Amino acid sequence: MCGIIGVLGQHEVAPIMVEALKRLEYRGYDSAGIATIDATRRLNRRRAVGKLVNLSDLLVHDPLPGKSGIGHTRWATHGAPTVDNAHPHRAGPVAVVHNGIIENFRALRTELQAGGAEFRTETDTETIVALAESFLKQGLAPRDAAEQTIARLEGAFALCFLFDGEDDLLIAARKGSPLAIGHGQGEMFVGSDAIALAPLTNRITYLNEGDWAVLTRNSLEIIDREARRANRPIETIRIDTAAMDKGGHKHFMAKEIAQQPTVVGEAVTGYLSADGAGFALPDSLDFSAFDRVSIIACGTAYLAGFTSKYWFEQLAGLPVDIDIASEFRYREPPIPPRTLTLFLSQSGETADTLAALRYCKDRSQVLALTNVETSSIAREADLNLPIHAGAEIGVASTKAFTCKLAVLAVLALKAATDRGHLDDDALQDHLSALRGLPGLLNLALDRADAIAAAAKGVATAQDVLFLGRGAMYPLALEGALKLKEISYIHAEGYASGELKHGPIALVDKTVPVIVLAPSDALFDKTVSNMQEVMARDGKVLLITDADGARTAGQGTWNTLVMPDIPDFLAPILYAIPAQLLAYHAAIAKGTDIDQPRNLAKSVTVE
Ligand code: G6P
Repeated sequence: MCGIIGVLGQHEVAPIMVEALKRLEYRGYDSAGIATIDATRRLNRRRAVGKLVNLSDLLVHDPLPGKSGIGHTRWATHGAPTVDNAHPHRAGPVAVVHNGIIENFRALRTELQAGGAEFRTETDTETIVALAESFLKQGLAPRDAAEQTIARLEGAFALCFLFDGEDDLLIAARKGSPLAIGHGQGEMFVGSDAIALAPLTNRITYLNEGDWAVLTRNSLEIIDREARRANRPIETIRIDTAAMDKGGHKHFMAKEIAQQPTVVGEAVTGYLSADGAGFALPDSLDFSAFDRVSIIACGTAYLAGFTSKYWFEQLAGLPVDIDIASEFRYREPPIPPRTLTLFLSQSGETADTLAALRYCKDRSQVLALTNVETSSIAREADLNLPIHAGAEIGVASTKAFTCKLAVLAVLALKAATDRGHLDDDALQDHLSALRGLPGLLNLALDRADAIAAAAKGVATAQDVLFLGRGAMYPLALEGALKLKEISYIHAEGYASGELKHGPIALVDKTVPVIVLAPSDALFDKTVSNMQEVMARDGKVLLITDADGARTAGQGTWNTLVMPDIPDFLAPILYAIPAQLLAYHAAIAKGTDIDQPRNLAKSVTVE
């Protein structure tokens, strides 16, 4: 959830670390800080509340010299975002940056307090430095003190230690949170991910679960969870640095929305044969071997999975359970034989999704769809299918949602074929529709001005309802989630048929009701629900196609017309107006679109 960096460099490290932290700011932006070892081998630190720019400003007035250091950008778990609670934490000669949660910190703190340690913060992290200091006071060398400290910690964490008096030593540890080690020329780096290290090196060693590592400028020693020396490979990774700029857009979110025709096209063609008439999927993925699919994910990834439930069930006759990972992992559900468990995650690092995957690993065949091939979820699944969205920087997920849907659509067709539910003519019709998606997405993007105008009316509302039926119901949930996340307007998504069982009580002339309704087999039913809203003065924004607008567009507050699309793929197309509505409502409200308050892109804590 937080981002961490460590550098043993040849140059001043403060500016290098601030640059690296910028690339990690998607993980959290409540506060930031760095610590370095200066030319006299003294440890110093600077910390600032709020975004990284505040730390940069502080460093202009109060620079921090040194060629070794650690840095952190925080998403608060224990303790408010104050300077005292900001990382790096320090106790005497040791400083640490931490991502994750130390679950036994209360017990450790009580024990350390009994030994005379004083605590100044509300964080769990402070117990790490207090513990390390206590081992140093017993005369242990930094390396041994770190080893003993790590051994006492419970929970999920990635850590990097820096010691006063040691300008060629970092100690890093990984348990439950990812950590990458970068190899330079006479330099060594630690980062929460390889993207943070991209300008510094592309030669990366990933720590495995339970590893800890001792770094100097010219050496890397890794010790595994069995306390054995471990050899981990150096991978040369390819990083798309263009992903890191906004490409002329005002926000990363705008750029990522606009990229969808291209990346969705790539996601589709990545899994179709060269002529587009068949599949290009691993042979091991044979859906005739499964009697059910269990889909597990969080947030927007969960809603992509929920959409595909309709597809797998309707096209392939394959029953699908869909679960929120944080609920699934503690429910300990029985997994029947012949179940495919399917994990969806943009980052591939979401803690709850990863824990759920580990629960399923010995009980089922595990398939993952992720956007980061080097991520923990991608690596721990039996099979990972990349979604080809490219780096997604905006905290609110957009292109990863539609790319997941595109890959899921291919999988649903593959399942239908493997299970004999689709003849070749029908399959070819569906595949041709899938190949046509980029063009239709472009047409939807062409309606951006009309959507932006409608969003102005939404931006002034206190509450907004989104309605959909069938596969448009999960999209109603996603539309509401997007609006909440970036404009802070309270929004709820409902299955249209459920409206009269409660939410209709909310409807009055101040509540925009956004109805996502292509003219499909369920259209008339959705329109009836829409009429119920209009009969109660509800302000309906109907998003439909030309036919739908003709038959049901009268009397609405506004009607947005989308291109015609085969029913099956409508959720992918209608994601565009849902995303653009949220985006333009947020513009109208002046919120921080790429880094909305309280959120983080990658949730690596429970
Ligand atoms: C966070 C992000 C969401 C994302 C969810 C799941 O809450 O803000 O946009 O959908 O995590 O993330 P994942 O990386 O597993 O898809």
